[in-house]
Amino acid sequence: MYLRMDQLSLVISRALDIIEKEKFGASKNHSMRVAVLCAAMGRRMGFDGDSLSALTTCALFHDNALTEYMLSEREGELRADNLRLHCEYGQRNVEWLPFKKDVAGFILYHHELEDGSGPFGKKAGEYPFEAALIAVADQVDVRNHLQRVPPEDLPELRWRIREQLGAGVSPKATGALLDVLDGEMLESLRDGAIYAAVEKTVPVWTANIRDPLIIRIAGMVAHVIDYKSVFTKKHSIQIANKSWLMADYYEYTETQKAQLYLAAALHDIGKIATPVEILEKPGRLTDEEFAVIMRHAQYTRDWLCGISGFEDICRWASNHHEKLIGGGYPCGKRAEELDFDSRLLACMDIYQAVCEERPYHPARSHADTMEILYGTAAKGEIDAAIVEDMDGVLAEYSLQDVPPPDPLKERVLDKGKGVA
Ligand SMILES: [Fe+2]
Ligand SMILES: [Fe+2]
Ligand SMILES: [Fe+2]
Ligand SMILES: [Fe+2]
Repeated sequence: MYLRMDQLSLVISRALDIIEKEKFGASKNHSMRVAVLCAAMGRRMGFDGDSLSALTTCALFHDNALTEYMLSEREGELRADNLRLHCEYGQRNVEWLPFKKDVAGFILYHHELEDGSGPFGKKAGEYPFEAALIAVADQVDVRNHLQRVPPEDLPELRWRIREQLGAGVSPKATGALLDVLDGEMLESLRDGAIYAAVEKTVPVWTANIRDPLIIRIAGMVAHVIDYKSVFTKKHSIQIANKSWLMADYYEYTETQKAQLYLAAALHDIGKIATPVEILEKPGRLTDEEFAVIMRHAQYTRDWLCGISGFEDICRWASNHHEKLIGGGYPCGKRAEELDFDSRLLACMDIYQAVCEERPYHPARSHADTMEILYGTAAKGEIDAAIVEDMDGVLAEYSLQDVPPPDPLKERVLDKGKGVA
């Protein structure tokens, strides 16, 4: 079974764009514009296919660690350190992807300046040129909102770019950007055209669901989602790791295990669109705030359903707030419409939310968590047989994290840092 990983990349970058908008006021679809500009610059400069693919993908994911950055900022670290941190985390996360070219430094140095005044103090020639290309496209888009510039303003825009970039920004990268920034390019960067432009830019990439790589990528995305809030720092990744144990218990095939892992890792991807103030609000939510939270399951459905090979994964992931007796969301389905893996993820989601620390309750032991799950099953909301199975499988991990499955463990040992 094959998955369209390029389509998954676009979903992830769409989620990242929402974060960048929330955090920095960058405009909608920012990462996609940076990717399209970088692809055009690379092509114009004669990059080969693999180099172009590496540059474009890093451009698409240049700010993948913004959720971690936001979190550490709110946890009281210094802003200058944070700028460095999102570069370091971003580079670490993207190295999970299967590049055919070395991408060392592409994201790490995307805020460097040639005069050495950037976060790592690197000077011209001490970091890869690809990082300078990403930096120039990033800065130009953030400052000029390229999707809104009317064609008649193109000469003024080109003049403004030279003025704005000035000291420290690579003149060669600035020249490369100005070389590709014509009327046609401006047209392709508009909100109505950018999806088509980026689809043409990102090479088609399929991967077998049984490739361990899939588990690594799922782990990377879960990491981005979880870091949206200090209280969900381990939520998706723990549900994914615990689901792997359940899949082992049920003797799933490797394909089924990988599908369930992906669904668990991505089930809350729609939460990226929920404002953090609502996610972390202590005490009761108002009806309006709860309605905003509930939308995340529909976003998960909308975003995942367009990916070829994700039909089952999308269904299980987006059904995680449905109840067997109806009254859940987003669709208010009932038992007969909820298959086994949808039911399993609904149980796992409650288990994790109950056992992990939240603004309104401390971390809970397995026994305390199970009491709540049995109560919910007794009301007919979730599957009682699955709850009983979970009681047996998860008991030994009370108040502890479940380690990642094997394909992730290798990586943890490799790099000393993992996604879990
Ligand atoms: Fe950045
Ligand atoms: Fe950016
Ligand atoms: Fe959820
Ligand atoms: Fe969840």
